[in-house]
Amino acid sequence: MLSYIIEGNNKIEGTVKASGSKNAALPIIATAILNPEPVTFYNIPDIEDTRITLQILKILGCKVKVDSGKISISSQNMHNKTIPKELMHKLRSTVVLAGAILGRFKEATFSYPGGCNIGKRPIDLHLKAFKDLGVEIEEREDYIHCKSKKEMIGAKIKLDFPSVGATENIILASVYCKGVTHILNAAKEPEIQDLAKCLNRMGAKIYGAGTSRITICGVRKLKSSDYRIMTDRIETGTLLCAAAITNGNIKIENANPENLMNVLFKLKEMGCDISITKNTIALKSPRILKSVDIETSPYPGFPTDMQPIIGAVLTKAEGTSIIKENIFENRFKYALDLIKMGANIVLKEEENIIKITGKTDLKGETVSSRDLRGGAALVLAGLSAVGTTKVENAEYILRGYENLEDKLKVLGANIKLEKVDINAKES
Ligand code: EPZ
Repeated sequence: MLSYIIEGNNKIEGTVKASGSKNAALPIIATAILNPEPVTFYNIPDIEDTRITLQILKILGCKVKVDSGKISISSQNMHNKTIPKELMHKLRSTVVLAGAILGRFKEATFSYPGGCNIGKRPIDLHLKAFKDLGVEIEEREDYIHCKSKKEMIGAKIKLDFPSVGATENIILASVYCKGVTHILNAAKEPEIQDLAKCLNRMGAKIYGAGTSRITICGVRKLKSSDYRIMTDRIETGTLLCAAAITNGNIKIENANPENLMNVLFKLKEMGCDISITKNTIALKSPRILKSVDIETSPYPGFPTDMQPIIGAVLTKAEGTSIIKENIFENRFKYALDLIKMGANIVLKEEENIIKITGKTDLKGETVSSRDLRGGAALVLAGLSAVGTTKVENAEYILRGYENLEDKLKVLGANIKLEKVDINAKES
């Protein structure tokens, strides 16, 4: 088991570069399945989620070459159209690989990715959209078999909810469809725009990404290409919040402020001094943070992935803050560990709300990550707490943050990643 050990109460100060986006990398890696020509991607973060995704591509028969953030892939000899269920369960976002396999081969087999700790996370919207594209879906022996007996024809697809994954899957499945596909009520996240930019560079014809109406005009083939993926906006927000919670001062390079405007507005409302250029964001924390109310919503609203992280910061704000989570049904588990560290938080689970009253001086404790962003919130709380904090199950955090320990150390944190062999005999 991996744990972060943090000696808290140090200011986070200095300059750091943000890494490539986890949530852009996964669907963009999937384009290598859709495109049989050689492709190269840059700025791919070296994290558990990308490693698992690349492992699946190798199992499917792709040639994958990793050279730090540069990934070269050829799926020319890809033969396998089934995503192994044990890997699907390990990483739910592999469901977008299904859209790519379906788009390329007109058939795909995969299993339910399963929920995770933040909610049920069904894929009904994905499957309904595949059916709209003329795909027949059969479920047997806990696998989902998708097949289009004839050529896939573009369709008008209205999403009941602007699902990020479903929007990505429809784009991937419809690139080669005959005719035109329209996605209505599409997700508008920047990662969708990055996916469309990458595919259009390969010769796809996708219009309107970043708006709620996306049009995909079918093409016959894609060409060899390369693409540098966008910066991780949630990692950027997390590092900004690390400075905010420790009364620190940070400058982030490779940042893209326009992808985080709602988060920057809230940090400013809390009293942080924010200055931005085209590709940097600087934050100076005030001595006393002000409480604010947060309500998560699809982009460009306040991102649900930043909800646990800003929640940790708000324990240091003076006054009462209300956080309403509207995207996932179970994304407040980190609050229990913050309470253990001394935070004053009331959970109203039936309303999917928490009420945080500060300012509290957190104290170091042994706490446990229960999901990726909740774990990151506990690391930030540990940075601020007086004493030693041990954040267990750090594997969750390593899924989505590249070199987090090194980045925080450079910024003044006293943090180390400790590996405990749980099978080790009691000494
Ligand atoms: C993506 O997940 C991100 N993951 C999530 O980031 C992010 O929180 C989420 O989008 C929302 O922004 C990746 O991109 C790999 P959704 P995704 O489909 O695609 C419901 C992180 O921490 N829904 O937009 O799974 C679903 O249950 C992760 O980096 C259905 O009901 O999100 C949820 O309540 C966590 N049926 C809501 O929609 C469906 O078929 C949003 O889900 C699909 C989704």
